[in-house]
Amino acid sequence: TGMFTYDPGFTSTASCRSAITYIDGEAGVLLYRGYPIEQLAEKCSFLEVCYLLLEAELPNADELKTFEKEVTTHTMVHDQLTNFFKGFRRDAHPMAIMVGVVGALSAFYHDSLDIHSPKDRHISAIRLIAKVPTIVAMCYKYSVGSPFMYPQNKLKYVDNFLRMMHATPCAEYEPNPVLVRALDRILILHADHEQNASTSTVRLAGSSGANPFACITAGIACLWGSAHGGANEAALNMLKEIGDVSQIPIYIAKAKDKNDSFRLMGFGHRVYKNYDPRAKLMRETCHEVLTELGLHDDPLFKLALELERIALEDEYFVSKKLYPNVDFYSGIVLHALGIPSNMFTAIFAMGRTVGWISHWDEMISDPEQKIGRPRQLYTGAVRRDVPDRW
Ligand code: CMC
Repeated sequence: TGMFTYDPGFTSTASCRSAITYIDGEAGVLLYRGYPIEQLAEKCSFLEVCYLLLEAELPNADELKTFEKEVTTHTMVHDQLTNFFKGFRRDAHPMAIMVGVVGALSAFYHDSLDIHSPKDRHISAIRLIAKVPTIVAMCYKYSVGSPFMYPQNKLKYVDNFLRMMHATPCAEYEPNPVLVRALDRILILHADHEQNASTSTVRLAGSSGANPFACITAGIACLWGSAHGGANEAALNMLKEIGDVSQIPIYIAKAKDKNDSFRLMGFGHRVYKNYDPRAKLMRETCHEVLTELGLHDDPLFKLALELERIALEDEYFVSKKLYPNVDFYSGIVLHALGIPSNMFTAIFAMGRTVGWISHWDEMISDPEQKIGRPRQLYTGAVRRDVPDRW
């Protein structure tokens, strides 16, 4: 029965109109506000890209300075928020903690929750972009039993994050510019990707009028899955499991076997049926980082490159247009940066926060906005009467 179009997984339904990001999956093109991702990755910082996604134009020098200052001023979290961490087990997954702690932000910043006020929406956007890295670094410090490091306002966004991750009260952290640039690039490449599962989740949650902190938390929960943002962690774990170049054929065979649920993590994409342009850029960055750190002979990296080579020549992957995606390489880069694999998806969330909030803001500002309310094709029992049983 049904008057509705059935489109499982939304493979051919546009859920909204959007002016933020354009993807041509056949051609392997990705534009943020009209600008090619390759140029943005080459010429811009992550905060410039944040400004672009939120404001629709690249900032001039003054606008960038003001924006950077605004973000920097909001990097601290309320001191009460630190208590939330203590309620979690030390071995909790950082994404589980993220869902709890980011979700709690609306309890701290209720002065800015009028979603119809552009000023409130702006301050919430700034707070999220500023505080998510602080929370991500706190998740890591909590998991290793180290004291939290406060943000330092004189530092740039990525330097500040790496310092909160790697410095301790006893030892400062000296950031290597090649590694800082690599992380900046990871954030740029993950900043937005139109109506992916987590962004659609944020929009659906926001369509009911829920506050932005709650909506972004819904996005974080969705991102966690291994078919989405969890793929970078899963890809690295897969490489560790494969263990040696000689084992690759066994895993390729498993990935091809219809009766085996194993997939090559970090391969394939719903929209890209060509090389993911982000993967191309990430591959470049990956090589820069490996060269900088002298890791080209590292067995894990050799294994990754060999797996890529074999898969790209294999008839199964070629015919299904399964190319490495951004998460295949970002996992390797983050590993080289000394970031443990259970933190990878949280770093993806750090980059994607601006995309989620830009979509949320665009949706709330749209005069045609309605609550999201999909319909269904009912497949259950037809009407029947409850029998007299007693
Ligand atoms: N390894 C082996 N076979 C695969 C893979 C893979 N990674 N991906 C897709 N296939 C096969 C799949 O079995 C299917 O074969 P058949 O047509 O014979 O049934 C065909 O390719 C199409 O796959 P699908 O699952 O119908 O495609 P989809 O568009 O629903 O899924 C995907 C896209 C990304 C979920 C999927 O490719 C996948 O699970 N990849 C591994 C996880 C991953 O790397 N995800 C990150 C995506 S990029 C970043 C992000 O969005 O977060």
